[in-house]
Amino acid sequence: MSLLERLGLELPIVQAGLGGGLSGAELAAAVSRAGGLGTVGIFSPVRFVAELRRARALSPGRPLAANLLMPFVRPAHVAALISAEVDVAIFFYGFNRAAVERLHAAGVLVLHQVGNEAQARRALADGADGLIAQGLQAGGHLLAELDTFAFLPRACALAEGKPVLAAGGIHDAQGVRRALAAGAAGVLCGTRFLLTEECAAHPLYKQRVLGAERTIETLLFSFGWYARHRVAPNASTDRWCAARAAGPRAVALMNRLSGPLGRRMPLSLPAARLQLRSLPLYSPAPALAGMPDRVVDVTPLYAGESARAIHEILPAAEAVAELSRGVGS
Ligand SMILES: Cc1cc2nc3c(=O)[nH]c(=O)nc-3n(C[C@H](O)[C@H](O)[C@H](O)COP(=O)(O)O)c2cc1C
Repeated sequence: MSLLERLGLELPIVQAGLGGGLSGAELAAAVSRAGGLGTVGIFSPVRFVAELRRARALSPGRPLAANLLMPFVRPAHVAALISAEVDVAIFFYGFNRAAVERLHAAGVLVLHQVGNEAQARRALADGADGLIAQGLQAGGHLLAELDTFAFLPRACALAEGKPVLAAGGIHDAQGVRRALAAGAAGVLCGTRFLLTEECAAHPLYKQRVLGAERTIETLLFSFGWYARHRVAPNASTDRWCAARAAGPRAVALMNRLSGPLGRRMPLSLPAARLQLRSLPLYSPAPALAGMPDRVVDVTPLYAGESARAIHEILPAAEAVAELSRGVGS
C-alpha cells in the first residue's frame, strides 16, 4: 500500500514542520484540509499537545503529522504525539530507536529526514517506515550533502520499496512531477509553506525571503544548537558572514561549546528579542509575528534556494493546489 493510501492523503504534498513556532495548528490544518499532509513543528511538550489537538479540531478526519527535532526531544514530546493521536512523526537531526518503537506501538507512522546514505541506513535499521531525502537546496537546518535530485535515487535504492519523499528546492508542480518521476512517493516542502498566510513568521521575515536574491549556508545562528543551516541574508549575515559564510571562527567555537545549554533552552525564545547585531551569539529561534521589527535583523531567516523563485505569499491551500497542479494527470 502506498504512503498516500495508508494515510488517506489525496495529494503527495507534505508540509515540513517549521520549528520555533513557525508552523502551528493553523498552517498544518490548512495543508491537511487542502489534501496534503500538514505538520505541526516542535514546541514545548505542553504547547505541543495543545497545538496538535487544535490542528486536529481544525482539520477533522484529515491526516496530521508532528515534527520531532531530535536534539530537543524529551520523552514528553513523544507522549504528546501519542496522546494527540497524530498519524505521522517526522524525525530530523538525530535518531532514537526506542522512540520509534514507542510510536509504532501506538500506531504512529515514522518518517526520518536524512541527508546521506549512512543516515538513511541508520533510520531504516531503527525501523523508519519511510525516508525524506534532504538535498542541499533546502531551507532551515541541513543534513544534506548532495543536490536533492542526486541524493533522491540513492535514498530510494536504500529504502527498498519503502516510501521516500524529496525535500529541498521544490516549490512548484514541475518540481513535484520531477521528484515523482525520479521515484519519490511525494515531496516535503518548507520554504513554499513559510511563504503562506498561515505561517506564524514575522511579516518582515516573509518579505525578506520573498525578495532574497540568494541564500547562505552558515553556522552563524548556532548558539545552543551547533548545526549548519540555510538562511536568507539580513544585517547580521551582512556583518558577520561577508568574509566567511559560516561566520567568524571564534563565534563558531562559542556556539559549539554552547550545545549542552541549548538542549535546555526553549525553542521559541524570548531571548530572540534581546539579541544584538554587535554581539554575534545568535540562537536558532526565528522571528515570529508580534515580535518587534528589529528582531528580523538578528534572527535566522531560514529559507531555501527556492526563495528566489517564489514571488508571493499565498493561503496554504493555494500553495498546495499550485504544487499539485496537473500532478498525477
Ligand atoms: C523556515 C524553515 C524552518 C524549518 N524548520 C524545520 C524544523 O523545525 N524541523 C525540520 O524537521 N525541518 C525544518 N526545516 C527543513 C525542512 O524539513 C526541509 O528540509 C526543507 O524545508 C526542504 O527544503 P525547501 O525549504 O526548499 O522546501 C525548516 C525549513 C524552513 C525553510
